Amino acid sequence: MDVSRLLFFVFMVITRAECSETDKSQCMDSDKESFNLLEGEAFYFLPLDLPDNNFTDEEFKWYKNTSSFTDNSSIEEISTNDSEPVHYHGGALFFLNLLTENSGFYTARHIKPSGQCHRYHVRIYVVKTKNDSALLYGQINNSDWNKRVPCPKPVMEICEIMKGEFTWYKDFVFLEGDNKADLRINNATKDHEGIYTCTCTWTHNHKVYNSSGSRRLIVKEQSIHRDPEILSALGEQYADEGFGIKLNCSVLCGTNVKPHCKASWNFSGIPKQTDGHNQTTEVAMMGPSKNTISTAILTIEKVSARDFQAKFECIGRGFYKSVSGIVTLKRRESIIPVVTGGLCVLFFCVFAAMLVKCFAIDLALFFRPYFPLSSHNIGKASCWG
Ligand SMILES: *[C@@H]1O[C@H](CO)[C@@H](O)[C@H](O)[C@H]1NC(C)=O
Ligand SMILES: *[C@@H]1O[C@H](CO)[C@@H](O)[C@H](O)[C@H]1NC(C)=O
Ligand SMILES: *[C@@H]1O[C@H](CO)[C@@H](O)[C@H](O)[C@H]1NC(C)=O
Ligand SMILES: *[C@@H]1O[C@H](CO)[C@@H](O)[C@H](O)[C@H]1NC(C)=O
Ligand SMILES: *[C@@H]1O[C@H](CO)[C@@H](O)[C@H](O)[C@H]1NC(C)=O
Repeated sequence: MDVSRLLFFVFMVITRAECSETDKSQCMDSDKESFNLLEGEAFYFLPLDLPDNNFTDEEFKWYKNTSSFTDNSSIEEISTNDSEPVHYHGGALFFLNLLTENSGFYTARHIKPSGQCHRYHVRIYVVKTKNDSALLYGQINNSDWNKRVPCPKPVMEICEIMKGEFTWYKDFVFLEGDNKADLRINNATKDHEGIYTCTCTWTHNHKVYNSSGSRRLIVKEQSIHRDPEILSALGEQYADEGFGIKLNCSVLCGTNVKPHCKASWNFSGIPKQTDGHNQTTEVAMMGPSKNTISTAILTIEKVSARDFQAKFECIGRGFYKSVSGIVTLKRRESIIPVVTGGLCVLFFCVFAAMLVKCFAIDLALFFRPYFPLSSHNIGKASCWG
């Protein structure tokens, strides 16, 4: 009996000792939150796990953990004194004039009236310049025509709790008339790109403070795919055998669709890229409308007899569809033989007319034996009528 009592007692002592030793680690730790803030501004932090701040100051103990590497020796207690630039009330931590030396880890130890223990952690990092990219709360980078730039959540929450007022800045220039938590931009263009800063101006103990957060807005160019359309001439094209020719296959695929626009030449009967048939392709964005036009140029160094039999197919591939059209070569009718022939005929006619006119009598005499009946009329048909 005594032995079992003794054993029970020993057991109790051991478990109690363990309990008090592990007391610290029994405190529930919340996830660490992290904020990058601008020097000179103010910040109000309430841990995510606390829905609102209806606690007494006595339930909390806030301290700054100045060195994360050494032991507990470098711990700075934070006061509840309103005149201190860094102080707390219940679960909420106030920074009224942020300084770079305020950067660090802050922890709150919360003992609830029930005895439960919670610890909340926040990392604060104070930067000196407002265009530091560390201050950005992400990007707005969607393809919507109309953009919504929401005020970053921590700033929005400060404004709700402290009943502050919003102002907006684009690239640190004040935007007149924008004083809602969301900034709206209709028909956004590239010119609207930039850094949008939401500033909340709030009052605490009759003093005015600013808290701000920025987001970068990126406006993507709108892409409009359309059925590809061949712009260059199709059908028969004149060519001279033995001479070079360039065939142009030019395709319009839409607006700002550079990766999805391809023009090419395909030709039957002739092996590709041989016999001096060489094709080059380039895609270009034309003009302020950003029309995407792909152009394939087929260079034939020397047009041969078989090229006049071949079908050259101009193919345009867009995002959804392909189109094609046929070009054939036709021998050019040379005008030199036509002109020379014409001139010869003309000269011959003139020459013949001269002969007839000037040698009419001789001809009449010459032909007289063959046309005896028409002898009377010949004199009238002479040179001078
Ligand atoms: C704080 O408010 C919550 C609900 O908003 C309530 O459940 C809780 O009892 C309040 N605590 C104190 C200490 O008033
Ligand atoms: C101090 O911060 C470091 C890093 O977050 C953490 O590991 C350490 O436990 C903290 N110390 C105290 C006493 O909160
Ligand atoms: C707060 O911001 C306003 C403009 O939004 C500015 O006029 C004012 O000087 C700022 N005050 C402080 C204390 O930074
Ligand atoms: C090809 O044809 C298109 C449309 O006719 C024209 O705009 C373009 O300048 C031509 N390109 C060349 C290199 O001839
Ligand atoms: C095609 O033309 C390009 C440029 O004119 C040249 O660099 C290339 O060698 C040619 N290819 C053939 C197969 O002739």
